[in-house]
Formats: sequence, structure tokens, C-alpha cells
Amino acid sequence: MRVIAIVNQKGGCGKTTTTVNLAGALAADGARVLVVDLDPQAHATLALGVDPEEQDENLYEILAEPAGTRSLEEVIVGAGDGLDLAPSSIVLSALEQKLAGERHDSLTERLSIALENLPPYYDYVLIDCPPNVGLLTFNALRASREVIIPLEMSFFAVDGVQKLLETVALLNDRIGHDISVRILPTLYDGRTRYARQTLGDVRELFKDLCFDSVIRLNVKLREAARAGKPISRYAPSANGARDYAALAIEVEATPPPVERTDIPREEKEATSSDATREVVIRYRDAQAGEVRIAGDFNGWIPDKGVRSMIESEGETRIWTKVFYLQPGTYQYRYVVDGEWFRDPDNNEWIPTPAGQENSLLVVR
Ligand SMILES: Nc1ncnc2c1ncn2[C@@H]1O[C@H](COP(=O)(O)OP(=O)(O)OP(=O)(O)O)[C@@H](O)[C@H]1O
Ligand SMILES: [Mg+2]
Repeated sequence: MRVIAIVNQKGGCGKTTTTVNLAGALAADGARVLVVDLDPQAHATLALGVDPEEQDENLYEILAEPAGTRSLEEVIVGAGDGLDLAPSSIVLSALEQKLAGERHDSLTERLSIALENLPPYYDYVLIDCPPNVGLLTFNALRASREVIIPLEMSFFAVDGVQKLLETVALLNDRIGHDISVRILPTLYDGRTRYARQTLGDVRELFKDLCFDSVIRLNVKLREAARAGKPISRYAPSANGARDYAALAIEVEATPPPVERTDIPREEKEATSSDATREVVIRYRDAQAGEVRIAGDFNGWIPDKGVRSMIESEGETRIWTKVFYLQPGTYQYRYVVDGEWFRDPDNNEWIPTPAGQENSLLVVR
């Protein structure tokens, strides 16, 4: 069972559209798919033709109680043709307040445990998240090994890139397990030069993290949502249906890498190819408390795959970062106490589409 969360704190970038229509496309390919609607707006529930008001029970019942109290199966409803739904309702928005008094870690594990307790029936679970990073989104991330971040290719899309990177960093830090993150360009209007330029910039910045599939602007997607059906059923020959079918194929073909925490470091290094180089860079600072490094080589997840050492030289502390890369050109930034900026000791840098600065690293 692959559990994929669709996340972006920016509203209206296509999270729900992607959840519902990727689910529809995977189901059309014969997969058994569960959509978990974690957004109190219940847009995914509505887009699958289910009226949240008419449901006796919804995800609130599962998440409001300690893990294991209720089975997720009790709230799941059929949404036709291989698709099931764990519906949302506006009451989910009250969850945060209800649980505010009970601050402990297990609150973010409730969905994860509920999914683990399901019988092994589903091939995919797709989780639609609300446009913020609160308790509900953390439940989704905890439960997922994969994240899809829809990124709108319209005028303001690139402004969100920095925020996006922070979200990705937050995931890895707080969740404590490896999450494979992919970027999905959405709402793409190829007729505008701006959108073409943005797509190029996003591909350049995120490289392999960016899906090859692109979701074009297509009014049929809006109509399908209103009709309460995935586009694979509503208008199977529309561009929107083709784009999500292509995305489904790409998702099916690229499962996340198997997590092998059991391999000792020496063995990992010995198995890496001869072309891999050891990269060592240092950061000096007298004030900083925590210094991490994030770049396209580690999916912009601070310190992922990086060994860190800290030494003191009088007042100054020196962070040494060691990691392994194939020859190529990479972009990175330091994350110093949560602030992202380019390497002050490296004169090679380029501006990002969002107007920030990334340092360049050339490995020969
Ligand atoms: N590719 C597309 N072409 C045309 N319209 C689209 C496309 N993708 C999404 N839309 C429309 O844009 C609006 C926002 O999309 P959607 O609801 O999927 O975003 P969201 O990220 O889930 O929003 P929220 O943050 O509010 O949950 C919806 O009306 C949807 O029908
Ligand atoms: Mg939504």
C-alpha cells in the first residue's frame, strides 16, 4: 500500500483536483484506491459525489479519539469504480481546538495508525490536505512515505518556492522518517510565455524531483468536480483526463526508493558508483545555533544524506558538512536557525525564480 499525501500550504494550487483525478486515473488502471479527505472544506468529498452533510460519520470520529479506538473502515464509503473515500466534514476544523489541551506526540500518529490497521486491500491511499500545516497535515505526513506538492504555474507560483522548501524541511525534521517529495506543475497554460518560463525554472530548480507530467489548465476539470466525478469518468478524452492518466502512469512506474536504514555506512559508500565524489564544505559562525545544508542534491531537505561535524575555534563554531555526489552542477543554501541563505564564502551563486540566491557547487 502506497500512501501519498498531496500537500501545499498555498490555497488553490490543485491539491484536491490532483487527489481526486489521480485517484480516478489509478482506479481506471485497475488499482484499488482510497481517498482520505483531510480538509474540513470537504472539497474532495464533494468532488467524488458524496454529500458531507448526509454522512453519519466522517474522519472526525476517527481522529478525535485515541488511536485504535475506532476503525477507519467504519467511515469509508464507496465512490464508484474501485474508488473509496474516507469523507471529511466541516467539524474536522474543530479538531485542533478539541485536542489543544492534549499536547503529546501521538496526536499526529492517529491517521497513520488507522491506515496501518486497515486490511491489506488498497494499493494506494491518497490524502488531500488543507492549505495550512497544522495538526491535520502533520497527521497526513506522518502516515505517508510520499508527498506530491502541486505547484501552480501561474503568475505568482514561484513566490511560494521558499515556503515550499520550508515545508519540506519541516516534514523531515518533525516527522522523523524519510519522505519522498515530488513537485507537480499544475494549472499550466502553455500559451503564455510566463507559464513556459516558470515551468523551465521549476524544472531547473527541482530537477528529478519534478514530475515529467504537467497538468494543463482545463475547464473540464472544474466541471468534473462540480459533477462529483473524477475526470476519467466525466470526460475521459479531455486534456485533463489525459494529463492525470499520464501522471498515474508516472506514479505507478516510480515507487519511492526502499528505505534501508539497516545498511551500515561503510557498505553504503562501497556500493555507490566509482564516479561518486566526497564533498566537504564548511560554515563558520559565532552566533548560529543550528546550521544545516539543503540543495537539489538532497531534495532541499536540510541535512538529508549529509554528515555534520561541529568544532569550536575560540568564539567561532565551524560546521563541516560531508556528503557524496556524482559529477555535475548543484544548487544549495544554508539553513541557519531556520533562515535560508546562500553560502557567504562562495562567490558562485545564481538568483532563483523567486528572487532569492542559491549557491552553486560544481563537482568534477
Ligand atoms: N488544471 C486545472 N484546470 C482548470 N481548473 C483547475 C485545474 N486544477 C484546479 N482547477 C480549479 O482551480 C480551483 C482550485 O483547485 P483545487 O481545489 O484543486 O485547489 P486546492 O489546492 O485543493 O485548493 P485549497 O487549498 O482551497 O484546498 C478549483 O476550482 C479547481 O476546479
Ligand atoms: Mg483543496
